[in-house]
Amino acid sequence: RSYKIAVIPGDGIGKEVMPEGVRALEAAASRFGFSLDLQWHDFANCDYYAKHGQMMPDDWKARIGDVDAIFFGAVGWPDTVPDHISLWQSILQFRREYDQYVNLRPVRLMPGVPCPLAGRGPGDIDFWVVRENTEGEYSSIGGHMFPGTEREIVIQETVMTRHGVDRVLRFAFDLARTRDRRHVTSATKSNGIAITMPFWDGRVEAIGTEYPDVTHDKYHIDILTAQFVLNPQRFDVVVASNLFGDILSDLGPACAGTIGVAPSANINPDGTSPSLFEPVHGSAPDIAGKGIANPVGQIWSAAMMLEHFGEDAAAAGIMAAIEAVLATPEGRTPDLKGSADTVTCGKAISEAIAGA
Ligand code: NAI
Ligand code: MG
Repeated sequence: RSYKIAVIPGDGIGKEVMPEGVRALEAAASRFGFSLDLQWHDFANCDYYAKHGQMMPDDWKARIGDVDAIFFGAVGWPDTVPDHISLWQSILQFRREYDQYVNLRPVRLMPGVPCPLAGRGPGDIDFWVVRENTEGEYSSIGGHMFPGTEREIVIQETVMTRHGVDRVLRFAFDLARTRDRRHVTSATKSNGIAITMPFWDGRVEAIGTEYPDVTHDKYHIDILTAQFVLNPQRFDVVVASNLFGDILSDLGPACAGTIGVAPSANINPDGTSPSLFEPVHGSAPDIAGKGIANPVGQIWSAAMMLEHFGEDAAAAGIMAAIEAVLATPEGRTPDLKGSADTVTCGKAISEAIAGA
């Protein structure tokens, strides 16, 4: 088995954590017997923008070519390029052009990570957030009329298609089937958003009948956010529209500790184009260049990528290595009250993978 992967470090700490993500991938490849064809790209970063006036070359898609996945760091350097430009011209292009309609984030409390919720330890929080990533509330349909006058009106429409809703729901139910509890929770707001959300609820019921072995329930988004904080043990797979999923997929990892360890995947489950794996965090200009960024989010993203390839043993090997290293203060970076720098933490994880 061989995997061709586009490697795009991006800006700031993206450039510091990416080498550790790659180190872990290479350790997993030699330990678990597959090979890697890594293709590094020097675009989708703000230095490229400074030279070329845009974040990516016009032919970026051809340059990335036919790859099995994209391994991404973080993009953004607000001092030189406004965030709406740097993100829209890079990561958001990938999501749309590659039809990565699922945004997937694990919410799992790891050993060595202090939990902001009182009385919770490892094992208490372990669920997935599945966010619809291509339609819903984030549409460009709407209008702004009579700007600056007393008659000013702004309208932005939510777009839900049966195709778009069904496919993300099926992904969530399929994911629940791989889990012990086999339970899906749907985020809704059909008491207030009286057209699109009842439609969403109806599709949950319809798709749910295709999965008699998976239970499901629903919460309105307002109380659901409270339940994330008060009763996180209640959840197994949580599925949500684009906006609700955006909120839940930041709240979830925050409930399970630091942003430095959280991974995410932008998935095209149909395999018609590559999926993208990246840490949840951004380029962290406040600590960039100091060599102290936590590489675990990037390395955990590598594990998600290998799982996507079906390399389950390798993915489990990386996760076991992360857990072992996070459990020791010498292995942890300063954001987790440890003494390790980025490279020390990354090397310790890679050595643990090699010895798995
Ligand atoms: P951020 O995630 O970069 O940083 C937030 C805070 O968390 C900072 O104090 C930072 O030092 C800390 N932090 C983040 N990752 C860490 C790590 N691995 N280890 C230790 N500490 C870590 O978010 P912020 O500051 O809002 O955004 C900075 C830039 O990143 C902006 O340009 C933003 O647009 C961009 N961004 C890019 C994302 C992406 O590439 N997908 C996602 C989020 C933000
Ligand atoms: Mg977000």
